[in-house]
Amino acid sequence: MRLPRTLGVESSCDETAAAVLDGEGGVESQLLSSQVQIHRRWGGVVPEVASREHLVAIRPVVEAVLDRAGGPPELVAVTDGPGLVGALLVGVRFAAAFAWALDLPLVRVDHLEGHLASPFLFLDGRPARPMPPRVLSLVASGGHSSWYAVEEGAARRLCRTRDDAAGEAFDKLAQVLGLPYPGGPVVDRIARSGDADAVPLPLPRIKANPDDFSFSGLKSAAVRWVRARGLEGAGEGGGQAVADLLASFEKAVVDQLLRPLPGLVKRVRPVVLAVAGGVAANTRLRHSLVAAGEELGVEVLLPPPALTTDNAAMIARAGQLAFARGVRHDVRRVDARGRTAWQPPGMRRAS
Ligand code: KG4
Ligand code: ZN
Repeated sequence: MRLPRTLGVESSCDETAAAVLDGEGGVESQLLSSQVQIHRRWGGVVPEVASREHLVAIRPVVEAVLDRAGGPPELVAVTDGPGLVGALLVGVRFAAAFAWALDLPLVRVDHLEGHLASPFLFLDGRPARPMPPRVLSLVASGGHSSWYAVEEGAARRLCRTRDDAAGEAFDKLAQVLGLPYPGGPVVDRIARSGDADAVPLPLPRIKANPDDFSFSGLKSAAVRWVRARGLEGAGEGGGQAVADLLASFEKAVVDQLLRPLPGLVKRVRPVVLAVAGGVAANTRLRHSLVAAGEELGVEVLLPPPALTTDNAAMIARAGQLAFARGVRHDVRRVDARGRTAWQPPGMRRAS
């Protein structure tokens, strides 16, 4: 079935992104304006700054993708949550006004549903891969770490982190070491030259649901190790000791993320295994998941690295698939679904 050419808009965190997909889910154009350099000096995303930057970027970004698209859009898809409320509002209001002015249908998309669609997309114009009836997907990003069963388009969460997200754990350890934000890509690079068995780190057991993860104890153990050796703020000059710690930390995170996999495969009997979110760019996670897929006899789908972080192609695709299922939203009623709580960098919750 040919679906409408779709404009996707994403502004839930610190990337202003737009994309146009053709009727088969092929990416015609996509663009991302990242605020990473701006937030770097605070060591994390500052919501008010993010909203203002979205306001500046949204129009030129959307205009640029429309200029490079194969034709005018017939559907608008926009992330309405979860995310930073002010940041989301910019995208939601822009998309709703755009759809209303051109009399186009609008679909609001959950950011997580977008990530779940990303492993099925290509960046070379090829049509999107149809979603098989049962997919087992890991979403690991700065805000989420959960396994989902995606069945007939509906996602069911199977297990999750009890505290920090995997990307957040990488970011926090990197910050203590004086490495630039976001920490994940730097940790990935430095860990390649480290020995992953050099530093013993704890592997927690969670009583409530043994499939769940916990990264806060691991992070504290790693931070204690750094402090005991006076390596706080060592930055790139941390040498082999830091490379070994980061390799061991990365292995501990990946091992936890993949620990429930055999049991989940037995329960869900997926046609494919997939991974999405910023941490899906991680070299060790990608290799380990492919190896696990071979062992378990299930095909593994990895998103193109450029589509692992927040992007609008995945939002457009999720919107397109929802539209095919009959989903439509009233442009006058869409609104941002923000996070309930946000802590400024370096601050702790009172209780
Ligand atoms: O999906 P994303 O762009 O934004 C959220 O929705 O959170 O994910 C960003 C997260 C950051 O925490 C970043 O450090 C992490 O993904 N990340 C990585 C890598 N690239 C990005 N973590 C580990 N290895 C990487 N190569
Ligand atoms: Zn995301």
